[in-house]
Amino acid sequence: MTENLFKDEVVANQFNDYNDVLEQVLGYNFVLSILKSTQAKKILDYGCGPGKVSLRLANQLSADILAVDESAKMIEIAKRERKHQQIDYKIVKKDNLDFISDNSVDGAIACYVFINNQSEQRILKIMREIYRTLRPNSHFIILDTNPNTTGVPFSTFQNGEPGKSYSYGEERVEKLNLDSQEKLILHDFNWPNRMYETNLKRAGFSEITVRYPKLEDFSAEQIQQIEQEYHYKSWLNEKTQAPFILYQAIKK
Ligand SMILES: C[S@@+](CC[C@H](N)C(=O)[O-])C[C@H]1O[C@@H](n2cnc3c(N)ncnc32)[C@H](O)[C@@H]1O
Repeated sequence: MTENLFKDEVVANQFNDYNDVLEQVLGYNFVLSILKSTQAKKILDYGCGPGKVSLRLANQLSADILAVDESAKMIEIAKRERKHQQIDYKIVKKDNLDFISDNSVDGAIACYVFINNQSEQRILKIMREIYRTLRPNSHFIILDTNPNTTGVPFSTFQNGEPGKSYSYGEERVEKLNLDSQEKLILHDFNWPNRMYETNLKRAGFSEITVRYPKLEDFSAEQIQQIEQEYHYKSWLNEKTQAPFILYQAIKK
């Protein structure tokens, strides 16, 4: 099993510093609105990292968040920098959620977690654990980089080399642009859509849908609002190509 890079202190700190404006605009905002519409009151954030998503959810929803990660460094940063009375941060070991009882959470998310796992068996185990903990009629939302835009330079990151075609589960180099002009170099894995769809079904999920948000889906007024809110307008290929995939699935 490849070691999780996010357990490294330098990587954890650099990831914490990464400006995730693109993830926010074309990813987390959709996660938030799904959870809001389902009125989830207890949410599992699997692979919470430094807690940026959990904190945004806690600030905008009246829900308790159970935020778990296998990197002790990430949990340390989250507890130090993003403490919130609605969030319980925990280290998870061997993808085992046995501290959460069956049918006890009513929404779960995994943002940029599966691309960082090399083993499909491991991904299936996590999906099964998440399925077990969800109440019937609850949603599981997955955000990951879009396997169909590998090699495309986006304004804040690039996943894989341009023009290279990656095989099922093949390792890719991902480069995140840091404000310091440095790049955070990560190694993740190329999981095509069928990996998500097959394993979500194997885990028991149904009504599986996928979305590919991109900037041109927004009106000119909405883009202007986003630019003002995030003080950002250095858009690149995310105008016309989707950097992320967003899966939504239901435990019936
Ligand atoms: C790219 S970071 C994303 C963090 C956060 N979800 C976000 O969107 O900001 C991926 C996180 O997933 C965690 N992770 C990856 N595989 C994991 C696993 N099998 N179990 C628990 N955490 C995992 C890593 O430790 C890391 O903190």
